[in-house]
Amino acid sequence: MSKKIILSGVKPTGRPHIGNYFGAMKQMVDLQNQFADAEKFFMIADYHALNLIQSKEEMAQFTLDLALDYLAIGIDPKQSTLFKQSDVSAHTELAWIFNTITTMPYLMRAHAFKDAEAKNKEINVGTFDYPILMAADILLYDTTLVPVGQDQKQHVEYSRDIAQKFNNVFNTETFNLPEPLIMKGVEIVSGTNGQKMSKSYNNTIPLFATREEITKAVMGIVTDSSGDVPVNVYNIHKLIKSETELKEIYDKNKGKYKILKETLIEDLDTMIKPLRKRRAELEKNTEEIKAILADGAIKAKTKANAKLLTIKKNIGVL
Ligand code: TYM
Repeated sequence: MSKKIILSGVKPTGRPHIGNYFGAMKQMVDLQNQFADAEKFFMIADYHALNLIQSKEEMAQFTLDLALDYLAIGIDPKQSTLFKQSDVSAHTELAWIFNTITTMPYLMRAHAFKDAEAKNKEINVGTFDYPILMAADILLYDTTLVPVGQDQKQHVEYSRDIAQKFNNVFNTETFNLPEPLIMKGVEIVSGTNGQKMSKSYNNTIPLFATREEITKAVMGIVTDSSGDVPVNVYNIHKLIKSETELKEIYDKNKGKYKILKETLIEDLDTMIKPLRKRRAELEKNTEEIKAILADGAIKAKTKANAKLLTIKKNIGVL
């Protein structure tokens, strides 16, 4: 079997939530630890975030914050390459090449575009082109596996289509086809109101939440009084406790929503506490974080630029 190459990314748009963590970021750490001999690339997708974050100060802060988040959950720069998308200009260059072989109707079928279109009268070109840049992110590294949440599945499928289209148009075997890795049970983590957890729905529990923030979020979980089990509480609880453990707790406290919420607060705090602590330690030395990103940029560029040379040869510009 050929070597595993794992790549994923997160947009620096503010604090990640436990949906990002259980849906994708935890898998990145688990894969890193499980596959010592795989190549691993974890990215801060700042150019994707630029569609939303258009303030110099916010972009700089959120980028540094996300680097801290990655490191605090266990991404180890000795084992994985942690880098910023904008540091590797091959991504946007390849995105241009892909633009030329992709049709507008095809991009118009993307869920994210359709959602944006339903909400916005005027969509920027960057939002429209989002899947193309993401295909470039993935294909530049000969990625075989992309750990993501369910909402990114279509984007990985787009990457596969674009890889195939390129290979056909230029009659080469330039790209292999990457696979998404979507963990069962956490494909779509639900938020405090039962909808998909998402910053835009205002229903999140931040990954590095303080005890007070956890309490506030959990107490705000929407419950209906129709059954013994508050479904929205249970669905978050099952991220951190097994069904067997939960059965005992929920059987013992049928209909006692307050106790169940308090148990969830305790369990979330126990899970988050060591992450918070590690993040606070790392935060003391931001120079070191910047050095890790600079080093990651060099490693990512070495791989991406070599691939871009092959691509440029295959399209006839070199
Ligand atoms: P972003 O920053 O929106 O989300 C980061 C990851 O979190 C997952 N996620 C969820 N998973 C389960 N339940 C939820 N409620 C939930 N909310 C978010 C997302 O699926 C994602 O995996 N386009 C990507 C960033 C990106 C990327 C890439 C990813 C850019 N280039 C290349 C992989 C490979 C995104 O929007 O992430």
